Amino acid sequence: MSRSAKGAALIAALALAVVAPWLAAAGAGDTAFTEAERAEVEALAVPLGDTPPEAASTELADFGQHLFFDRRLSGDGRFSCASCHQPDRAFTDGLALPEAAGRGHRNTPTLINVADNPWFQWDGAADSLWSQTLLVVENPRELDNDRLNLAHTLYRHADLRAAYQRRFGPLPPLSEGERFPAHGSPHAPTDSPGGRAWRRMAPADQEAVNRVMANLGVALAAWQRRLVRYDSPFDRFAAALADDPDPPPDEAFPAAARRGLKLFVGEAQCTLCHSGPDFSNQAFHNLGLPVAEHRDTGREQGLRRLAASPFNAAGPYAGDQDDADRLRFLPPPESLRGAFKTPSLRNVARTAPYFHDGRFATLEEAVRFYLEPPEGETLGEREGTLDLIPDLTDRQVADLVAFLKTLDSAPLPEAVTTPPEQR
Ligand code: HEC
Ligand code: HEC
Repeated sequence: MSRSAKGAALIAALALAVVAPWLAAAGAGDTAFTEAERAEVEALAVPLGDTPPEAASTELADFGQHLFFDRRLSGDGRFSCASCHQPDRAFTDGLALPEAAGRGHRNTPTLINVADNPWFQWDGAADSLWSQTLLVVENPRELDNDRLNLAHTLYRHADLRAAYQRRFGPLPPLSEGERFPAHGSPHAPTDSPGGRAWRRMAPADQEAVNRVMANLGVALAAWQRRLVRYDSPFDRFAAALADDPDPPPDEAFPAAARRGLKLFVGEAQCTLCHSGPDFSNQAFHNLGLPVAEHRDTGREQGLRRLAASPFNAAGPYAGDQDDADRLRFLPPPESLRGAFKTPSLRNVARTAPYFHDGRFATLEEAVRFYLEPPEGETLGEREGTLDLIPDLTDRQVADLVAFLKTLDSAPLPEAVTTPPEQR
């Protein structure tokens, strides 16, 4: 910096020092929240000390925790659930699209606070947490296993077998190779060895293997119920706001985040969809995204898969908690072509890249997407409500991003996020 520039900077700094107290006083009015804004914020926050309880550590949850980190769940023994849902990345993988047995075409979502969702996956193809597992295990791009092989794996390994049988009773007599071939699944192509092997099995034996799969899902779900965290700087700010419309400054919730929060619940209309304590209305929306290489129909496909799945809430493996009634009132699949589930925004700063196909690398890009109707071919129809979102200035976008960064919660206890045998 030249001498004169330095001088100018010094003068500017002095001027600011003189003016600053006045600025702060004038700005005070801007930082206060109206009654309406406070009500909106209250609906998003989880009162401190009122966090939904995480499920206890039980034998079942411990078994699920073990399974989550166990590579023997994959077809070739190389991948586990944790390959993609990495605990130190808020249970995501940092990739636009996951890479395991194959390259997936959807972005890996977080598992924090996942248990209470009514629908699972971006397209809601599963209506329960336990049944979601079955979609992963046999997906050739994910764990690429088949259910017969998985049942044999449990049977073969003494540790897995003991843990399974302690909770669920005896495994089927898998050593009878005539009844239970080494590989097979109803999803294997009909003319493949695995497809033929499955179809040759007695229905009761098929059911016994399906039951093993469902039970694995139940164990994994019991552990995922422990992944609960709501204590973010935002929740602490909301608690302060409940007592005072203009809470004192808070380092963890800077001025930009306050402005961003006001926008989020107000002018920017984000709470039309990102509402409630998970910042998601848990519904499916068509945002008019230009189609990507993989022509993903989203909820349309999800509804079809859900209806066809023997593991849905109306099927023979469902438990008491599963709600079959809502399956009777689902909309026609085509009406939701191109719609995806509103994702939770909790911990969003740690779950980049964004959107169902990971198309946006940063939060800023994700927010900017809303400002102008995107161009290009879309699947289905973009929702008109999106036109309510006004064009925002660069500073407003930065403020929204600053707010989204306050949704990080503290890490989960290590006892929950490491394989049980390493404790
Ligand atoms: C190859 C990477 C990969 C592996 C391995 C993997 N997942 Fe996932 N997971 C994903 C992706 C991608 C999605 C979104 C899928 C979709 O919407 O179609 C997902 C979705 C989920 C969801 C739904 C979350 C939500 O908010 O709807 C749960 C629950 C889940 N996975 C649990 C598991 C469990 C348990 C395992 C192990 C049995 C596992 N995942 C293995 C990548 C992976
Ligand atoms: C009409 C409903 C709707 C509105 C309004 C809306 N969103 Fe979204 N939001 C979604 C859906 C649906 C997705 C996922 C879309 C996809 O992946 O195809 C999403 C994704 C996101 C993501 C990426 C999250 C992730 O994990 O990938 C961010 C960030 C986000 N929205 C922020 C906002 C902000 C900020 C606003 C207000 C300016 C807003 N949203 C308004 C429905 C909405």
